[in-house]
Amino acid sequence: MVNTKVTLSGITLDNPVIPASGTFGYGYEFAELYDINILGSFSFKGTTKEPRFGNPTPRIAECPSGMINSVGLQNPGVEKVITEELPKLAKCFHKPVIANISGFSVEEYAYTCEKLDKAPQVGILEVNVSCPNVHHGGMSFGTSPEAAAEITKAVKAVTSKPVYIKLSPNVTDIVSIAKACEDAGADGISLINTLMGMRIDLKTKKPVIANKMGGFSGSAIFPVALRMVYQVAEAVTVPVMGIGGVSSAEDVLEMMLAGATAVQVGAANLVDPFICKKIIEDLPRVMEKYHIKDLNDIIGGAHI
Ligand code: FUM
Repeated sequence: MVNTKVTLSGITLDNPVIPASGTFGYGYEFAELYDINILGSFSFKGTTKEPRFGNPTPRIAECPSGMINSVGLQNPGVEKVITEELPKLAKCFHKPVIANISGFSVEEYAYTCEKLDKAPQVGILEVNVSCPNVHHGGMSFGTSPEAAAEITKAVKAVTSKPVYIKLSPNVTDIVSIAKACEDAGADGISLINTLMGMRIDLKTKKPVIANKMGGFSGSAIFPVALRMVYQVAEAVTVPVMGIGGVSSAEDVLEMMLAGATAVQVGAANLVDPFICKKIIEDLPRVMEKYHIKDLNDIIGGAHI
């Protein structure tokens, strides 16, 4: 018998496996496929103050071992998320959920976080300062320590639940940004979001994606994500959620050894909608294979 339970800011999860924002809708869509209560938690689609139609299509480009997306934060807006999406979710998911929030100004982030902080199902606010697919806001708040700290302070001032800041890998020094968020009061760090990428169609000789560029994710980015999780976990004392290219129970263990307390699964959900279920079912066997009795014993274990 192994222990897969982990604790994030006082919230105990049955296991560390969490579908990442943007790859799992508002949860109930996947409840048609399996009982999503087996998940540790999940992070719902990035939500903004106003409804957003998102970017023009095409928004997706396939790549070897990954994909590029430029969805552009399509979502129904925070009011509808609270009045329509969360009640649907309540019928099929009975654990605290992670609310992923984006914005285009400090005030907008604070507004949306304050609203979602009051939703009883929300356990953690994941503040996304790393979306690469919008021209203002999004990633622009996550590429400087000062801007990331300003958002963190503004959100912490109007919320009572744990605030995790989701960081972009499209920076030269992610550690300084993570530390600035921690100093500004963040309760945890989620990393990484997608890497900026592009594809060109040889027939049209133009970018595949209408917005030209987008965020690259999938198993190709796993080593980059692992490296950044390792660096950030070494520098901060708050918990880290590791994200980026995770698609197996082995990847989950690697992320935890690098310092992650919980691990998000992103693009793999779009390839195989059952992947999180498979990882959760596989985890005890893989733990036994590597003589791990309790996941908590390996968090940060790779640090010398
Ligand atoms: O474009 C999008 O909706 C993606 C958001 C993100 O990567 O944070």
